[in-house]
Amino acid sequence: MDQKSLRLGQVAVAGGVMKTMSEFIITGGNRLSGDIAVSGGKNAVLPIMAASVMANSPCILHNAPDLIDVRVMSEILRGLGAVVERVDSGRSLYIDPSTLKSSVVDETLVRQVRSSIFLIGPLVAKLGKATVSYPGGCDIGQRPIDQHLKGLSALGVVFEEAHGNIVAQAHKLQGTGIHLDIPSVGATENIMMCAAMVDGVTVIRNAAKEPEIVDLQGFLNAMGARIRGAGTDVIRIEGVRALEGCEHMVMPDRIEVGTLMAAAAITAGDIYITNAVAEHVQAVTSKLREVGATISVPGKGLRVRGPNRRRPTDLKTLPYPGFPTDMQPQMMALLSIAEGTSVISETIFESRFKQAEELGRMGARIRTEGRTAIIKGVPRLSGARVVSSDLRSGASLVLAGLAAEGRTIVSGIENVDRGYEGIERKLAALGAEIIRQE
Ligand code: UD1
Repeated sequence: MDQKSLRLGQVAVAGGVMKTMSEFIITGGNRLSGDIAVSGGKNAVLPIMAASVMANSPCILHNAPDLIDVRVMSEILRGLGAVVERVDSGRSLYIDPSTLKSSVVDETLVRQVRSSIFLIGPLVAKLGKATVSYPGGCDIGQRPIDQHLKGLSALGVVFEEAHGNIVAQAHKLQGTGIHLDIPSVGATENIMMCAAMVDGVTVIRNAAKEPEIVDLQGFLNAMGARIRGAGTDVIRIEGVRALEGCEHMVMPDRIEVGTLMAAAAITAGDIYITNAVAEHVQAVTSKLREVGATISVPGKGLRVRGPNRRRPTDLKTLPYPGFPTDMQPQMMALLSIAEGTSVISETIFESRFKQAEELGRMGARIRTEGRTAIIKGVPRLSGARVVSSDLRSGASLVLAGLAAEGRTIVSGIENVDRGYEGIERKLAALGAEIIRQE
């Protein structure tokens, strides 16, 4: 393992692909119960880390999850010249971008984390240029970046392609009106970050409304930016000359909340997620109630009691506040043991049914036709050896394993580690029988 790999933890970097030999061994059948707190949001912290390069002084990100994607992003920022360290016993990230010297993002690392694309906006705003290769990330189908390029071009960024890299140069940047063709989360964030330091007013219309965009607005404004409207489909950004470092508390991970809710539902458990923001998971709450779960919002958290018998339901993934695509595979696991037939329509990403075949090995009856999956509920799943091919399909298989009879071995869990911080520790604390085998 080379030095870079060592710093990233137990992750070997081979041909741009993360490889570990770990697997989860799960003995199903235990009902989950107890209190649990989720980590900071992966999809919130990654754009915030990218935005931090625009500051003139250090930033501290509290509640920053220790995930593979965050480690890779930290390594990318170090490569650009920033100082990035874990502080507060590892709970917070300290980023000092005042030593930033390079605008060229390490190609091997870019291929491992799609969020490296977020660096184009901030680097161009701060240094006037950025070189980034085409991003990697989960293999869940075609993930174009045309909306990022369209928005940034409207601000005056000029793009060229050289040796497979995207080379972006600032050409008299100026705020303007941008109407996105689709409400892309990443494009909204990239444009917002760049526009924060561009002369004049930028208005993004048909912007994505995800809570992570609200969190990014909070971070940018704490640095001195003037942005309003995040969480709606019109975001107004008044450019400022300089941004300073700040402290920011990263929002709780709403997909981890949803995954734990589904874990309670699939095991007929009774759990209390102490730091869930109920508003962020309304679409998931609504579907889980249709399946039969009892969900309440006592205090600052969310209590989920899973039903003994699960009803089928249909669902369609949509941009926020619709049902999140990042929760679709976990719902598929749950619906595979419902009493009847459910239909899932995936409208955001193609190739996001990779878990279906693996669930089939556990006895699920799922037929996929293009972007539709038809799930005929079976009374129970049986433990099997299955492979996680991307982050959320991995989570889906873990949930299935919790409910299955016998032993399930999930390999490919480096994909799960990309987005869940110590998921096996959290599930074990709730009574699941799950261990990580290196
Ligand atoms: C983000 C999330 C990801 C989530 C997704 C949808 C992060 C780090 N990742 O990804 O977990 O699954 O939102 O909620 O926040 N598209 C284009 N052109 C573009 C950009 C996107 O056609 O320039 C398409 C994509 O292919 C996809 C759809 O728009 O079909 C949504 O993508 P987008 O909202 O951009 O997702 P990401 O930001 O990549």
